Amino acid sequence: MKSFVLFVAFVSAVLAFEEPLRFYHETAGIREAARIKQAEEALDFDGGRITGGSAAALGAHPHMGGLVITLTSGATSVCGSSLLSNTRLATAAHCWWDGRNQARQFTVVLGSIRLFTGGVRINTSNVQMHGSWNPSTIQNDVAIIVIGWVGYTNAINRINLPLGTLANNLFVGTTATAAGFGRTGDNVGIGNNQFLSHVNLPVITNAVCAQTFGNVIASTLCVSGANGRSTCPGDSGGPLAVTSGGQRVLIGITSFGSARGCQLGFPAAFVRVTSFNAWIQARI
Ligand SMILES: *[C@@H]1O[C@H](CO)[C@@H](O)[C@H](O)[C@H]1NC(C)=O
Repeated sequence: MKSFVLFVAFVSAVLAFEEPLRFYHETAGIREAARIKQAEEALDFDGGRITGGSAAALGAHPHMGGLVITLTSGATSVCGSSLLSNTRLATAAHCWWDGRNQARQFTVVLGSIRLFTGGVRINTSNVQMHGSWNPSTIQNDVAIIVIGWVGYTNAINRINLPLGTLANNLFVGTTATAAGFGRTGDNVGIGNNQFLSHVNLPVITNAVCAQTFGNVIASTLCVSGANGRSTCPGDSGGPLAVTSGGQRVLIGITSFGSARGCQLGFPAAFVRVTSFNAWIQARI
């Protein structure tokens, strides 16, 4: 009887954990790309609305690379990425292969606060996946995108890796900035202004994050999702950055959140860039 009680307690503890969002393209990315496209086209109809805030937002994240993704099925999906050099960007491995859906081309969108028009737009199928990317366990969710040379401008610039004194920093308690073209809430319709947005989020310990997702591996970095502020579907692969010594530093790559939604207060999980410094440096 006691073992039965323990078993029930164990099962309910397991069930209490949040299921991470999996098979990103079919569960979120394709729907999100269609929503962004429709919202951007609605803005075209009334172009005056976006002029005001766009210039400031444009220069604010010069390392941001939007990804318009063509899947082998022909469907269009969306992710983000971060410019690391004139020819390389970092993204999440699941943006190229989510365990069920394979991409065949990324259109990298640099220097634009809109995803489907504007900026410098570069097509590529050259993606270097982490050899141990595991869609089941969401381990090693990192990839490098290779593009033809792009020059830096006020709106296009590289972001640093967390090297030197930052290489062993866990960043707990630090406020970091996530950027993306994804939705700004679980119930955002096309009526909302659609452009690149950003949110400041405090980094939490992996132990606290594990209270939501169960086991959280060391190479994952989590931020608090309190007060409905978090990354959302569509933001996958995009940057989580801090400022250190006046320089912007990439500390996370948007990896996963709760399958139930992005505004429910659960943490959001990122690839911990310090865990992959050497792997990334060998490729940029
Ligand atoms: C890039 O890919 C998109 C989507 O397939 C296509 O519409 C566009 O013409 C391509 N651009 C170039 C320069 O090849």
